[in-house]
Amino acid sequence: MSGRIPLAVPDLGAAEARALAQCVEDNWVSSAGPDVTAFEAAIADLAGVDHGVAVVNGTAALHLALLIAGVKPGDRVIVPDWTFVATANAVRHAGATPVFVDVTAESWTLDPALLSDAIKAETPAAIVAVHALGHPADMDAINDVARERDVQVIEDAAGAIGAAFGDRPVGGLGDAAIFSFNGNKTVTAGGGGAIVTRHKDWAVRARHLSTQARTGAAYQHDIAGFNYRMPNLNAALGLAQLGRLPEMLAAKRAIAARYDAAFAGRGDLLTMPRCGWSESACWLYSVRCAKRTAAVDLIEHVGRAGAEARLFWEALSDQDPYLDFPSFGTGVAASLSGTVVSLPCSSSLSGDDQMRVIDAVAGWRGADLKDAA
Ligand SMILES: Cc1ncc(COP(=O)(O)O)c(C=O)c1O
Repeated sequence: MSGRIPLAVPDLGAAEARALAQCVEDNWVSSAGPDVTAFEAAIADLAGVDHGVAVVNGTAALHLALLIAGVKPGDRVIVPDWTFVATANAVRHAGATPVFVDVTAESWTLDPALLSDAIKAETPAAIVAVHALGHPADMDAINDVARERDVQVIEDAAGAIGAAFGDRPVGGLGDAAIFSFNGNKTVTAGGGGAIVTRHKDWAVRARHLSTQARTGAAYQHDIAGFNYRMPNLNAALGLAQLGRLPEMLAAKRAIAARYDAAFAGRGDLLTMPRCGWSESACWLYSVRCAKRTAAVDLIEHVGRAGAEARLFWEALSDQDPYLDFPSFGTGVAASLSGTVVSLPCSSSLSGDDQMRVIDAVAGWRGADLKDAA
């Protein structure tokens, strides 16, 4: 038996080592350098839009995306109830109020029908649609609802690089989008984020805000900006990873397909969504169990077989920082809370290691999903 199988770790090789060594050799390691510009162009290109702005992480990217979309203190912003906490935190960082809207049981992403009700009741300035686990949200339906009331749409594509809605890549489906390049993402820059948009003036403003809102070469500034610019060292790593994106995406999708096949037909596990509109990036492979106790039991069982498994997101409207905010629920986010388990799915995962995980799950039985709360 080899070592412990991690959940999702960076997949790094010689190209990444060369890129980082080159930065040191050229003395381009900080927040200026040729790789940052090249990284921005590559990310925008992947999203099918003209403009990209690289920043220090996905949370900072979300914060700036909200600001360039015109979100002001006191505004309301719709976010899915089932997302990483950063989505709602960024709304708070912008001084706005998150309005939580439930996700659908089919997609685990924003529910367009409920969104329509929430927009009428709350008149939000923006909607953040999250492509959960790399699976695109129902963007045509979301855009239709948003357009009726002239609401800006921001895609939180933090973990969805490479995903597509039909044949359109995520990142170009709303007014602006963000990606994360954290260590657990398919493409990592060590840490990092990016905003992409088709609006040139939005990109100019995001870049300005990300560099302390400097107006000239000297220490002159026109507003209170942020130190959010991505360092060149991270951009170089990100660029090297992007060169390997097709290979890494293919690996992620093959891993997901093998898990899907292995778990098909089980009454105690639901595999992650695959809606008709979605070409999922299969970022973090996850399954749903009937109950929290079953999910915890599965994690322990997989752990005894030498592999890491972990509980995924919990509904934000149920958590301390967000208990007092408006919420439109159908119970789906609550049912996914504490029942979704992520399994090892690094793009570097070997076939043998995946078989160890599959064998472990095959030797486990949980409560029937028919008995789920
Ligand atoms: C949906 C979502 N939004 C935002 C973020 C924040 O990205 P970062 O960790 O780079 O700040 C993440 C990170 O995992 C995420 O999953």
